[in-house]
Amino acid sequence: MYSEKVMDHFTNPRNVGEIKDADAVGQVGNPKCGDIMKMYFKIENDTVKDVKFKTFGCGSAIASSSMATELIMGKTIDEALALSNKAVAEALDGLPAAKMHCSVLAEEAIKSAIYDYAQRNNKEYEGLKGYKPPTGDEDHHDLVEE
Ligand code: FES
Repeated sequence: MYSEKVMDHFTNPRNVGEIKDADAVGQVGNPKCGDIMKMYFKIENDTVKDVKFKTFGCGSAIASSSMATELIMGKTIDEALALSNKAVAEALDGLPAAKMHCSVLAEEAIKSAIYDYAQRNNKEYEGLKGYKPPTGDEDHHDLVEE
């Protein structure tokens, strides 16, 4: 049911933890399953210098956050904002359909953190156009693109 990559990132997640003096923090949750994902960023010259995450959630959410942090490490903010949940799932060699929403959490956590960064530094990013910060009422199960 789960790919080897999912199992690998679930049992040995990369970039777990917290950045104390983070430049940006994003947190998202899924009210249906109750899972919560928090991401911390160090940003320099609009580039992701470091990113760590804490996920209180299912194995697919942990694997998705681990893979997402690897995919955006060292990338520009614009590149990080362009990372879709589909790309995260593909990098994991796929997720079961019922677990695709877990990868949405990773995409949303990145957006939420960069939104925080933009707010703190009075910046605007193309990838945040029309973005609304999470209110906690979202249902990511409905946001999944098949
Ligand atoms: Fe909801 Fe995985 S079951 S994030």
